[in-house]
Amino acid sequence: MSLPLAPQKASALTKHNPAIRVQAAEAADIEAVVALDAAITGTEKAANWNDVYARFADTNQRLQRYFLVAKSGRDELVGFVVGEIRAWEFGSPPCGWILALGVTPDLREQGIGTLLFETLCAQMKNDGATTIRTMVLGTDKTNLSFFRGEGLAAGPYIELERRLD
Ligand SMILES: CC(C)(COP(=O)(O)OP(=O)(O)OC[C@H]1O[C@@H](n2cnc3c(N)ncnc32)[C@H](O)[C@@H]1OP(=O)(O)O)[C@@H](O)C(=O)NCCC(=O)NCCS
Repeated sequence: MSLPLAPQKASALTKHNPAIRVQAAEAADIEAVVALDAAITGTEKAANWNDVYARFADTNQRLQRYFLVAKSGRDELVGFVVGEIRAWEFGSPPCGWILALGVTPDLREQGIGTLLFETLCAQMKNDGATTIRTMVLGTDKTNLSFFRGEGLAAGPYIELERRLD
């Protein structure tokens, strides 16, 4: 089942690919997600993605977790996005987090990332989130440029970390 984003808006977002549609991930999509993620990151993580599917798939929507995929007119997987709404972490009102996002390399800069992002934002807003948030490597110009283009900017929280060894 395709997810709600007005058809006119969706085709405006998918500049060169009006046939692209976004829908909830299904178990049969995971093999292609694993392959796309491996192509992007250089690391195959089948066990991780099966776990993500178990925790974030549509059947868990009551948990406000989201795992969406973009499909071409030929039903090929061309992108994915994973997110969740988290509430009241250190006082933060319900906020949508984008945890993973990827588009097939040879179909980029055609609006697919934006379509995935906007569809996820629409669902999260509908489910009560007032803000969208993500974390990207400070040196990752593509991801930074994409999220800046979608209107995200540095927020009031900072990431803190420490090694555990
Ligand atoms: C970031 C990413 C999702 C963008 O997908 P996309 O389909 O190319 O995005 P869009 O076509 O919707 O681009 C929207 C805007 O983002 C910006 N953008 C996208 N790719 C860009 C690039 N390579 N350089 C600079 N800006 C870029 C532009 O502002 C663009 O708007 P424009 O086309 O009007 O200039 C895609 O490049 C990707 O999958 N990158 C790897 C993500 C990753 O590291 N994932 C890790 C595994 S979870």
